[in-house]
Amino acid sequence: MSGWSEKDIPDQSGRVAVVTGANSGIGYVAARELARKGARVVLACRSEARGAAARGRMVVEVRGAEVDLALLDLGDLGSVRQFAATFPEGRLDLLVNNAGVMALPYGTTADGFETQFGVNHLGHFALTGLLLPTLLATPGARVVTVSSTMHSMSNIDINDLNSERSYRRWTAYARSKTANLLFTHELARRLAAHGSDVVAAAAHPGYAATNLQTAGPRMADRKLSEWFMRIGNRFFAQSADAGALPTLYAATAPDVRPDSFTGPSLAGWRGSPASSWRAPWTLNDQAAGRLWDASEQLTGVTYDALKA
Ligand SMILES: NC(=O)c1ccc[n+]([C@@H]2O[C@H](COP(=O)([O-])OP(=O)(O)OC[C@H]3O[C@@H](n4cnc5c(N)ncnc54)[C@H](OP(=O)(O)O)[C@@H]3O)[C@@H](O)[C@H]2O)c1
Repeated sequence: MSGWSEKDIPDQSGRVAVVTGANSGIGYVAARELARKGARVVLACRSEARGAAARGRMVVEVRGAEVDLALLDLGDLGSVRQFAATFPEGRLDLLVNNAGVMALPYGTTADGFETQFGVNHLGHFALTGLLLPTLLATPGARVVTVSSTMHSMSNIDINDLNSERSYRRWTAYARSKTANLLFTHELARRLAAHGSDVVAAAAHPGYAATNLQTAGPRMADRKLSEWFMRIGNRFFAQSADAGALPTLYAATAPDVRPDSFTGPSLAGWRGSPASSWRAPWTLNDQAAGRLWDASEQLTGVTYDALKA
C-alpha cells in the first residue's frame, strides 16, 4: 500500500455509502472522494444547515456527484433510530463511522451518556446494529470505524464507562477511541463466526488539521488552548485530504483484512496508508465481549443476527 492515494480508489459505481460527520474534516473528504469514484453517498450529519452547505460544496467540487443529506445526531438514540428507520436504500455497501468529538468539557448526550463515549462509541454501535440487516444483505459490504492513535493513552474502564466516578476529558477521548477498536474487533469476530463476508475494519488519520482540535477549547471558552490548537494545525498537522486516506483505503482497497487498523505510515502521524500499531488491550476478546454486552444494554440495540 506504499504511496496509495485517492487515485487508487477502485470504481464505486452502483455502491451506496453512509459517512457520519460528513460535513467537515475527514468525513467530508472521504464522502467527496467516494462520490468522485461513483458511489452514491449519504452525508449523515447532525446539523441540517452545515450538512446542506457541505452537500452544496461537494456537488460543485465533484460534478455529477450523487450525494444525499440525512440528519443523524449520534448523541441522541432517538435520532439514530429515526435515521435507520428512514434509510431509503435496499443496499448499504459501506458504513463509515467517522463522526467524533474530542476532549470536550464534561457533558451528557440526550440519553444521559458521557458525551465522548456516547457519540464516538455508543451512537455508532447503535447505528451499525440498526443498519446491520442491510449490510448483511449487501455482498462485500464494509464497516469502517475511525479511531485514533490517542486510544493508546487509556484502556476502557468497564466499571465506569460513562466516567461517572471521575472525568478527565483526554482520558475519556482515549477510552472512546479504544472502544472504537474493541467494537471493530468484536464485530469482525462475530461476522466471521456467522460466516458473513462483511468486513469490519478500523482506520485513523494521524494528525490532520480539522475542526476537531478547536471544538473542545471553544466549548470550554479556553482561548489559549484554542490558539495552541490552531498553531498546531497550521504548522504540524497534515491536511484533511491526507488524513482521509487511511479511511478511504480501509473502505475501498481490495485486500483489507477484518479487524485491521490502517493509519499514516510515518510514525502514525502522516504519510500514505499503512498497517498501524494498536495497543494490546484493543485485541482483548474478553474486554471486547464485555463492552459489546454493555453497549447492547445501554443502547437497547441488539445484534440479533450476530448472537454470540
Ligand atoms: N483530525 C485528527 O487529527 C484526528 C486524529 C485522530 C482521530 N480523528 C478522528 O477522525 C474523526 C473525524 O474527525 P475530524 O478530525 O474530521 O473532525 P471534525 O472536522 O470536527 O469532524 C467531526 C464531524 O463529526 C460530527 N459530529 C460531532 N458530533 C456529532 C454528533 N453528535 N452526531 C453526528 N455528528 C457529529 C461533526 O459535526 P458538526 O460539524 O456538526 O460538529 C463533524 O461533521 C473523528 O472520529 C476523530 O476522533 C481525527
